[in-house]
Formats: sequence, structure tokens, C-alpha cells
Amino acid sequence: MSKSATAIAHPNIAFIKYWGNRDDMMRLPANGSISMNLEALYTRTTVTFSTDIPDTVIKINGKSADSSTKFRIDNWLDDLICYLYQKKRLKDAPGNAEIISENSFPTGAGIASSASAFAALTLAVFGALGIETDEADLSCRARHGSGSACRSIPEGFCEWVTGSNEDSYAYSLAPASHWDLVDLIAVISGKHKKVVSSKGHWTADTSPFQEQRVYTAPQRIAVCRQAILEKDFNALAEVSEKDMLMMHSVMMTQDPPLFYWEGPTIRVIKAVREWRKEGLECFATIDAGPNVHVICTGRSAPAVRERMEKISGIREILSSGPGGKAHLV
Ligand code: PMV
Repeated sequence: MSKSATAIAHPNIAFIKYWGNRDDMMRLPANGSISMNLEALYTRTTVTFSTDIPDTVIKINGKSADSSTKFRIDNWLDDLICYLYQKKRLKDAPGNAEIISENSFPTGAGIASSASAFAALTLAVFGALGIETDEADLSCRARHGSGSACRSIPEGFCEWVTGSNEDSYAYSLAPASHWDLVDLIAVISGKHKKVVSSKGHWTADTSPFQEQRVYTAPQRIAVCRQAILEKDFNALAEVSEKDMLMMHSVMMTQDPPLFYWEGPTIRVIKAVREWRKEGLECFATIDAGPNVHVICTGRSAPAVRERMEKISGIREILSSGPGGKAHLV
């Protein structure tokens, strides 16, 4: 007998970044973070459990997953099944899983594909097993796969609280409809990044700046949360750009250093800062990759896009407004 479910989740872009863990095994973050889901981009995942499947099958964008991705998903799934047995929410062995996943955007290039991937996967697994649960539990289980995935479960603008295991999950600060922000993503490279962020977190503490970044994060979280709730674009821009630069300073000074930026990355950051001085509502933020997310208000977006199109080295500009929560289809 086979049981199947399909889920869709959106990636998210963090305004206050998650970098480094207090506990790597549990993916308990060193600091809290705040993000916005991206409506136009998504991962769609179908999970089928069947006793007729001899081993886990994982296909991502039509290709069999590489061995390290398969290892990561297998371990995460074993942990989840074990957790569900322990909590007596699962009685019978579900068999093995077939996981078919598609991304609508470049995978592994700083457009948090692991976030939408684990969020969609978590929801599809619960759906296929027919287990109902609350959003905090889903967010927590997604976090075990990829930290930032916990923020792709709730809707719109989300805050992930540090907490201890079951208390470390993301909740929605405001729905997607709260603020018509636009993320114009300057795609500088669609290639898979060399060091996945999961591994980068392990050595974040080797940077002399990490302790200070983590220590001061609660202040930036408070400013960012209030800026979102009050729709104060300038406050959001200042705190987000500062936080992004602090995270990349840590990345570049950890051991071994991680340089995610390419030439065009810095060109876009500098241009965006100039445009903001001229009165255009925009700011830049970057995850673990070279692509720059230029966040603007709906009314500034057309002018910002026009200017971005003139910067050399940008291969493509993706555009997205705030996204909804992960959902079953
Ligand atoms: O969830 P991970 O392990 O892929 O880490 C994501 C880390 C950043 O994207 C760089 C920052 C963030 O908060 O999303």
C-alpha cells in the first residue's frame, strides 16, 4: 500500500541572518533571525511511502540526488520517523519514501533552496503519513533539515526564536499582505555554491567577529521586528544591510574563510547604497552565495529594476513579493 502527498513551500530571504549554531546536531541557532517568504519562487515536493520501495528514492529537478544530499535527507527522515514513533503518532512502519522535488529557481546559489526544500518535504511527509500537527511542530522538524527552513513554514514575515529544541521554531510576525515589498534578485551565478551553508555554520565561531555579532543580534532583531510591524522602510534598510555586512564579515574571517561574493556582487551593493541616498527605497542583502537580493517598496521597484539592468555581470533579475505559508496541494 502506498501513501502520498504533495506540498509547496517558498524560499525566504533573511533580513536578520542566521549564521552559526549553539548546537550543530540540533541546529539550534546562535542568534534569532527574521525573514520574508518569496511568493514567486517555490519548491514543490511529492512524497510517497510504500513498502514496495526498496530504498529511499530522491529526485531533485529530474535528477537523482547526489550522495551527500541523499545522506542528509535519509538521516533527517530517520530522525523524524523515530520522533513520530516516540511521540506515539506513528504506529505502523510506513515503508521507504520516494521524494520527487522541483525548484522553480537556481538550486544552491544563495537563494535558500534548502529552506523551501526542507519546508516542503516536512509538510509532504506529515501529509503522506496522514499526521496532523501544528505550525510550530512543522517549523521545528523542518529546522532539523536546514535551519532557515523553519522560516519557510509560516506565512509572510517570520521570526525564528532561538529556544531549546521544541521551542526553537519560526512564527509569522505579519502576513504576506502586510507590506508590498519586492525582492529583485540579481542572479550573478546560478552555479551550486562550493561550501554549503550547513558546513559554514560549524566554523562560524572561528571568526573573531562572531561573538560580537551574536551578542548584538537581539538589538537588531528588535529594530527589524518593529520596522516590519510599522512598515518603516528606512529602519529596515539600515538594520538589514548592517546585519548582512556583519554576517559576511564573519564568513570572510572564519577559518577557512568563505568568500561568497563575486565582482558584480559588490558593484550591486555600492550602487544600491547610492540609489538609497538619492531617495529610492531599496537595500541589498545577500545569503550564502553571490546573488544580491535588492529589497524595495512596490513603488520603487520599477525604477530600481531599470537601474539594475544597466549593471554589468547580472545574468538575470528575478522578482518576488512576500510569500504565503507552506501548504499541501
Ligand atoms: O539554513 P541554512 O543552513 O542553509 O543557513 C542559511 C544561512 C543564510 O542563508 C546565510 C542566512 C539566513 O538566515 O538565511
